[in-house]
Amino acid sequence: MKKRVLVTYQMFKEGYKLLMEKFEVTFPPEGRETFTYDEVYEMLPQYDVLQSMFNFPVDRKLMERGLPRLELVSNYAVGFDNIDIPSALELGITVTNTPGPVTEPTAELAFGLMIAVARRIADVDHRLRVPGALKWGLLENLGYSMCGKTLGIIGMGRIGQALARRAKANCMNVIYHNRNRVDPEIEQENGARYVSFEELLKDADFVSVNVPYSKATYHMISTGQIALMKPTAILINTARGPIVDELALAQALKEHRIYGAGLDVFEFGDMVSQELLELDNVVLTPHLGTQTFDVRNEMAAFVSRNIINFYEGGPVSRVTRQ
Ligand code: GLV
Repeated sequence: MKKRVLVTYQMFKEGYKLLMEKFEVTFPPEGRETFTYDEVYEMLPQYDVLQSMFNFPVDRKLMERGLPRLELVSNYAVGFDNIDIPSALELGITVTNTPGPVTEPTAELAFGLMIAVARRIADVDHRLRVPGALKWGLLENLGYSMCGKTLGIIGMGRIGQALARRAKANCMNVIYHNRNRVDPEIEQENGARYVSFEELLKDADFVSVNVPYSKATYHMISTGQIALMKPTAILINTARGPIVDELALAQALKEHRIYGAGLDVFEFGDMVSQELLELDNVVLTPHLGTQTFDVRNEMAAFVSRNIINFYEGGPVSRVTRQ
């Protein structure tokens, strides 16, 4: 009998071809974007694998409901803060994620946000469309150059390194802070220098948040950290919203204590704070990090490989701690 996989969200089927040949796969019905938590709760005891999205809560109650049959929670995301990992490990359920295909597009978006804020692309685009809202002139609409400036990367994992490569190619200096210093070869390859967290905040012209979200990184950037940043600094967050204290950031942007911000993620999920919406020195995108036609299929293929390899043997991107 084929193993059964329950997918919580609708997705292009191209990347799932092999999985669908080997397994019985259930997606939400056509026209529905996702299953609700309650629907998954009802159905889960009939499945061996749960395939969740980064914003679908996989808590202990749900995993216990899946037992004794549930063997694998396969997340369609690199981040896994939606999953209670200690409970999964305790219950003997394997958890996997999709780091590979997420790296480059997320770094690409972070770099795009850096350009958009520094060169005021979104701001002038909005005003150009409103008659009389934008003034042309040599001393109007000034932003900041990036070449020669310093990018500070908080979190030098795969995405941090991919961003460093882009910054280096754009003649920027790169400094980074990480839980552990990375290998000297990686530093050299990316032209990155290790500094303390405080030093990074003080010295960087651009600060990019690239750490996973956990209790330890909640509000890692708040009023105190923003106070250390240059008045011309730009903050970029493509990781997870709650790592940055959103209201503290909005207040700092309003009072021009830093120059600007580019945010792809928000502290309160899909609800962007009104305080941010009222500002023109922040560029906002709706969690676009991996939102391309290409990456959707690549992530589907990656997630499928995780499941197939889990059962057939082969490399699996296993999560071992929160
Ligand atoms: C996206 O946010 C991911 O975690 O893959």
